[in-house]
Amino acid sequence: MEQRRHQPGRRDACATLLMAAFISHSPAETESLGERWGRAAQTGLVIGLSGDLGAGKTQFVKGVARGLGIAARVHSPTFTLVNEYGGGRLRLFHLDLYRLETRGQMVSAGLEEFLQPNGVTVIEWAERIADCGLRIADLKSLKIEIIGEMERKIIYDDFGA
Ligand SMILES: Nc1ncnc2c1ncn2[C@@H]1O[C@H](COP(=O)(O)OP(=O)(O)OP(=O)(O)O)[C@@H](O)[C@H]1O
Ligand SMILES: [Mg+2]
Repeated sequence: MEQRRHQPGRRDACATLLMAAFISHSPAETESLGERWGRAAQTGLVIGLSGDLGAGKTQFVKGVARGLGIAARVHSPTFTLVNEYGGGRLRLFHLDLYRLETRGQMVSAGLEEFLQPNGVTVIEWAERIADCGLRIADLKSLKIEIIGEMERKIIYDDFGA
């Protein structure tokens, strides 16, 4: 993942983006991080999640929904590209690209509409986008690595949430 650091003396002039990492010891802890992101989210935010099957991406999205004040239960959009949730501070668009492989599949599925959302977009298997050469201007990335039954290493763009 890319790491950008602000230049000395320009701290206020440019958006600082640093990576952060921590070990989550439970689904609830992963959800809490999502909740923090949800509370801090602003319209247009696109969150790209990566990590293996069962890593905890959907668990994180549950937290984002909670942080946005969305009461509905979050499920992975298995048979559709996107699940959309209202009722919170901002709309939440939850995408899962697991089954999409080519750029053509992503474009014809309508992916681009959700890359500049009127609300917040969270994308599981976001690495598929870069693999296909599509770019997202304002993407915050979060990667989950399985290191034990309950332990997950979470590496993310620290944008001050
Ligand atoms: N520290 C942890 N953080 C998140 N999930 C955890 C943790 N420890 C155990 N789990 C379990 O791991 C599973 C994560 O499932 P989840 O559906 O969130 O994964 P996913 O990354 O979305 O997988 P998929 O790629 O299949 O969509 C859940 O059963 C959850 O209870
Ligand atoms: Mg999932």
